[in-house]
Amino acid sequence: MSEARAASLTAIMVAAYRGRASAGAQSICSDPWALRLAGPEGEALSRRWDEHSPSMELWMGLRTRYIDDCVLRALERGIDQVVILGAGLDTRAARLGREGVRFFEVDQPASQLDKRERLSRFGGYPMDAASFVACDFERHDFVERLTSAGFDRRRPACLVWEGVIYYLAESAARATLERIATELDPRSLLVFDYLNTKMARSSPRLRPEDRAMKDIIEELGEPMRFGIDDPTPLMAESGYRFLRTVSFDELALEYTGTYARERFFRFQAIALASASEDMALW
Ligand SMILES: C[S@@+](CC[C@H](N)C(=O)[O-])C[C@H]1O[C@@H](n2cnc3c(N)ncnc32)[C@H](O)[C@@H]1O
Repeated sequence: MSEARAASLTAIMVAAYRGRASAGAQSICSDPWALRLAGPEGEALSRRWDEHSPSMELWMGLRTRYIDDCVLRALERGIDQVVILGAGLDTRAARLGREGVRFFEVDQPASQLDKRERLSRFGGYPMDAASFVACDFERHDFVERLTSAGFDRRRPACLVWEGVIYYLAESAARATLERIATELDPRSLLVFDYLNTKMARSSPRLRPEDRAMKDIIEELGEPMRFGIDDPTPLMAESGYRFLRTVSFDELALEYTGTYARERFFRFQAIALASASEDMALW
């Protein structure tokens, strides 16, 4: 892996889906910046994925909405530091920010540069809503870099790790989980989504449509590498005490009032975890 990584294309595709899920009367989430950030390139990538996964727009909308709600609940409970790990074109700092709350966006330098360039093309975005922390999880010390940017490790934080963990080597994913649990304030809350090993690795039993989605991601230069079938042992080994997981079918039911067996929410889920905070309170 070279030092000079390219800006993430999956981040652009995800932003397009988020923008699409935000549009229209039945919108699931609300990100007014996403479509402009994604641009025609993101729109085209998302349409290409649609061929294999017609539910992806709903899926991404649910993911963003649920994580937004988790962040809002954390803020309501008095947490005043939000860290977006692998931020891509995330706009939570602009959408959910409030006085007294600091947002930190951690990402690879190339993805951050790309985001700044995209944001500079249209006016109105609060560029200083978040502190940018340039960091490659596989090479750099993200805790040290966050601290240098003004993050206070002695106070609880809400950490969002959306659409990232499966792109990392297992060692980097585990090290990041462990450091969040053991080096930050134990009252901190982490929310992340994960893929099962069948999807993350190249299982011969993968459905053709899932294989096709995986191939597109690989073609974009960001292969999926790390899968999780049961997060409980992983999170226990990493130093967490409290863990809740939620399926996309459950989220679809909660946010849209619908369940459809033919929707392809097979291989992904969301986890909420903390070293010391009971999830029932969250
Ligand atoms: C699919 S995008 C998700 C972006 C954003 N979290 C979202 O949901 O819209 C994956 C993001 O992870 C970042 N990423 C991947 N590998 C990384 C690494 N080793 N270190 C830091 N960031 C990484 C990419 O730069 C990209 O922004």
